[in-house]
Amino acid sequence: MEGGLVVTTIAVYPGTFDPVTYGHINILKRAAKIFDKVIMAVAADNYKNTIFSVEERLSLIQQCCQKGCLKDIPNIEVDIFHGLLINYLEEKKAVAIIRGLRAISDFEYEMQMAAINKHLNCKVETVFLMTAAEYSFVSSSIIKSVAMMGGDVDKFVPPVVVDALKDKYKVGD
Ligand code: COA
Repeated sequence: MEGGLVVTTIAVYPGTFDPVTYGHINILKRAAKIFDKVIMAVAADNYKNTIFSVEERLSLIQQCCQKGCLKDIPNIEVDIFHGLLINYLEEKKAVAIIRGLRAISDFEYEMQMAAINKHLNCKVETVFLMTAAEYSFVSSSIIKSVAMMGGDVDKFVPPVVVDALKDKYKVGD
């Protein structure tokens, strides 16, 4: 409470999520314990060549929220954002950006991103959560490489994503 007003702290967890993995979901669940609301924001515009369209990436996460591993967490929202992340945070009145750190190799890029975002809006903080050890080597790219060759990825991505990857790569055809 602040001067009789209820203050809601909103955080945004942005990413490409092509596709979402259990590593991302682990970060999201932990962030949801810290903030009143966490918006998982799927980037529509970026330099990556994604295999899933932004609508497909959003839909995979929404399915996890409706009937999958995120269904019991009420303070999570999923959305698409366009353009600059910092503008999206301002629009949503969010105070923090959540990022997962897997290894020291993530650090330089993440530090650069946090610094530019701070420069663009000094009120916004970037909060880093250490990725759970069991997902420290997981990335969307590595999952796609394994799935493309018909390998088993079900320990690392939700069932809807396993099916979507099989469909995308037409494994078994
Ligand atoms: N578990 C598993 N994988 C993880 C992870 C975790 N906890 N944390 C990161 N990753 C992986 C991702 O899967 C991804 O793998 P990939 O490179 O194989 O696809 C990689 O680490 C990092 O990607 P991601 O977390 O999706 O972030 P990103 O770097 O693709 O997204 C944006 C960056 C979209 C947030 C950033 O580019 C952005 O804000 N864009 C908007 C424009 C803007 O504002 N620019 C100025 C600020 S940079």
